[in-house]
Amino acid sequence: MEIIEISKKYFEDWLNIGLELWSKYIDKKEFLRKEFEEIMSSDNQTAFLYFYDNKLIGFINVSLRFEYVQWAKSSPVWYIEWIFVKEEYRKKWISKALVEKARDWMIFKKCKEIASDTDFDNITSQAFHKKLGFKESWRIVHFIKNI
Ligand SMILES: CC(C)(COP(=O)(O)OP(=O)(O)OC[C@H]1O[C@@H](n2cnc3c(N)ncnc32)[C@H](O)[C@@H]1OP(=O)(O)O)[C@@H](O)C(=O)NCCC(=O)NCCS
Repeated sequence: MEIIEISKKYFEDWLNIGLELWSKYIDKKEFLRKEFEEIMSSDNQTAFLYFYDNKLIGFINVSLRFEYVQWAKSSPVWYIEWIFVKEEYRKKWISKALVEKARDWMIFKKCKEIASDTDFDNITSQAFHKKLGFKESWRIVHFIKNI
């Protein structure tokens, strides 16, 4: 196995695995392409890819958040934006390894706290975060209406 920081060489692979996760929310590949290009060109965002037998099976997108993060005592805060592992490879500590790898980058960026979020109904992700030592800090409900 190998964990590699994102570079142009792996961009299309990363985009395709990203679509597996995002398809629930966004069905436009070009929208995601722009998002990922922005990550690539930013000093405050990156991604790490997990390869097993030369096959990309998981990734983590992380950022430095300079805006207020609930309950954080420091700034910037290291934020897990997205984390994903293909279903057949789950519960093999792959995400844990991705978080640990990203942690080295964040230490280099002098971060002191890690934050993350997940949907209300994503019980798997909540269990995963708690196992990694995260404490729940806030719950929020979003609203929308036509004007
Ligand atoms: C959430 C997700 C990233 C976890 O990935 P994973 O590689 O299976 O997690 P790991 O194997 O590294 O698990 C780390 C710990 O969390 C626990 N865990 C993981 N999934 C769990 C589950 N469904 N229920 C209970 N505990 C779970 C593991 O048992 C492990 O604990 P342990 O060290 O005591 O054994 C993965 O399920 C996934 O890709 N889900 C879909 C995408 C998603 O929801 N992402 C999060 C939104 S940001």
